[in-house]
Amino acid sequence: MELKEYLHDRSALVDQALDHWLPGEDLWPGSLHQSMRYSVFAGGKRLRPILMMAASEAVGGTAQQVMHAACAMEMIHTYSLVHDDLPAMDDDDFRRGRPTNHKTYGEATAILAGDALLTEAFRLLANADANRLIAPATVLRVIELVARYAGSQGMVGGQVVDMESEGKVIDFPTLEYIHTHKTGGLILASVQAGALLGGGNEEQIAALTRFGGAAGLAFQIADDILDVVGDQTELGKDVGSDQARGKATYPALLGLAEARQRANELCDIAVESLTPLGTAAETLQLLARYIVNRNS
Ligand code: IPE
Ligand code: IPE
Ligand code: MG
Ligand code: MG
Ligand code: MG
Repeated sequence: MELKEYLHDRSALVDQALDHWLPGEDLWPGSLHQSMRYSVFAGGKRLRPILMMAASEAVGGTAQQVMHAACAMEMIHTYSLVHDDLPAMDDDDFRRGRPTNHKTYGEATAILAGDALLTEAFRLLANADANRLIAPATVLRVIELVARYAGSQGMVGGQVVDMESEGKVIDFPTLEYIHTHKTGGLILASVQAGALLGGGNEEQIAALTRFGGAAGLAFQIADDILDVVGDQTELGKDVGSDQARGKATYPALLGLAEARQRANELCDIAVESLTPLGTAAETLQLLARYIVNRNS
């Protein structure tokens, strides 16, 4: 199957499952549930859920087996975007082709919608019905893994250093810390959770851990590059906002050509890491190339 078709079909499955798991707009308090759904259903690429499904399939599992965890990951990712766009952080006006959550619902509701998405995600990860075919020890391992990569030593930690580095000249290790933590972590966690829930053995999990680490960092380098050369309509979010805010980015520190080269090298590392998985990992190979070559 063509990757384009695969992405389209898989994101439709994710949307359907998200609609099932997210509280309805008619539930009290309606403004909160509308705000949560506004950002979730604004048209994200669903890359983290898709990576989780592909990782499960690469170790002999199914997409269905990880669907609830894939939705939980998308809720955490969406919460991170809603908070990232707030005036106190990147202060952006557009996201996923729409005005940002706080522009539509106000800052207080946007903050609370993010809080609620994060909390609902862990509720879903622990849902007994969704996990009925998964060993309890694996469920616990996945919950711990997602919490680790989302929290103060993961995404939130990366976001803090990103904010503290605004307008400063930082060294390369600090830049790499920001990127691997604010973005790489949730991508790595998606791949690892897919491997665990899909029933992967330790060798397969180790291979996918190398894959996820390289693909996760490459993803944020590509995001930095798109902020410079991307098209606002195609991206669905503001461009040029990194330079305007003096953000620590790969193009700012290394220049565009070297940033591109680094992203391609990481993509090659990601693809090579898949060797032990054989042909079962072909979709992940295509996804690694897509991560660095995408336009949105
Ligand atoms: C954007 O992520 C924010 C980063 C972590 C770089 P995506 O590019 O995956 O955004 P959506 O989910 O498609 O909107
Ligand atoms: C965001 O990095 C990472 C998280 C949301 C955790 P960016 O600030 O570069 O993401 P965009 O460019 O606004 O999507
Ligand atoms: Mg940011
Ligand atoms: Mg931002
Ligand atoms: Mg960015």
